[in-house]
Amino acid sequence: MIGRVCGTGSYLPIRTVSNDELSHVMETSDEWIRERTGIRFRHVALEETTSDMAAEAAARALKNGEVNADEIELILTATSSSDVIYPSAACIVQKRIGAQNALAFDLNGACSGFVIAFNTAQAYIRAGIYKTILVVGAESMSRLVDWSDRSTSVLFGDGAGAAVFELCKDAPYEHVVGVRGDTLIRVGGPCREQRMTMDGQAVFRFAVTTIPQCVNELCQKAGVTPDDVDWVICHQANVRILDASIRRLGMPAEKFYRNLDRYANTSAASIPLALDEMREKGLLQSGQRIILVGFGGGLTWAGVMMEV
Ligand code: UT7
Repeated sequence: MIGRVCGTGSYLPIRTVSNDELSHVMETSDEWIRERTGIRFRHVALEETTSDMAAEAAARALKNGEVNADEIELILTATSSSDVIYPSAACIVQKRIGAQNALAFDLNGACSGFVIAFNTAQAYIRAGIYKTILVVGAESMSRLVDWSDRSTSVLFGDGAGAAVFELCKDAPYEHVVGVRGDTLIRVGGPCREQRMTMDGQAVFRFAVTTIPQCVNELCQKAGVTPDDVDWVICHQANVRILDASIRRLGMPAEKFYRNLDRYANTSAASIPLALDEMREKGLLQSGQRIILVGFGGGLTWAGVMMEV
């Protein structure tokens, strides 16, 4: 007994910021950012809060899945940039979409957050506690980064994505690998002044080791090979991370969905944004085997193999 995705939705802030625009406010260039990361522009939330974006993505996922708000029993919001500590972003989503019967809480797994929340939702469904769960990934990374640090600030963007899971008795697949922690990305100082600092190369090395390991481990657990996998949706951090992982795995690059050129790294929102975009483009078909891999702050990593 596990849950299947029955609806997805997303929200992106209206304002986009190109690399050239950034080069007017800091010492950087479109060429450096594109070559090192693959990013061309990102969306930046000027008006919207994290909860605004989360609630809009959630409402769209309900509409897409034709699920009524009062059917939702649990709302999990993966975020490391909630507007306030409480009410949690999930509580604000609950109020905005009118999910009066839902328990709601946030989960901070940094860029792995959506996959960790996904796996948490599956655990609730498998335990027979809930049947219909809304999982949201939403981030305002532009409010978290240090804009005087060009090596980190140019990498991130804002947005939200959401998926509704419904109990599906005959869903054959769900294989999960876990989380580990030794801090490399961190914030320091008093709470209000906290800004992200990152050893980019250490995270890069971590990611290119972890992604292939995660894909191989999930295939092993499921008794399949990477050839049997239709899509790998990785956290969208850097095209060079994706390319290096693909080389190590020896998988066709077309199986790795990528959209970070337009959104940059939206942390916990990147995987549900990709899922929603793929659904809209008609790329997700029933029976396909998909792997999701999240990695990032903590350092954390999490993966799941599922069938759509
Ligand atoms: O969700 C996970 C989040 N984390 C990540 O995805 C990080 C993964 N790591 C990376 O993506 C890469 O390590 C970066 C994109 C962050 C950096 O790429 P790199 O090839 O490791 O560059 P680097 O840090 O070695 O920097 C090379 C040069 C340095 O100048 P010098 O020392 O060679 O003179 C930097 O000061 O590039 C300089 N630099 C920049 N130049 C223009 C750093 N940031 C910029 C910038 N514009 N924005």
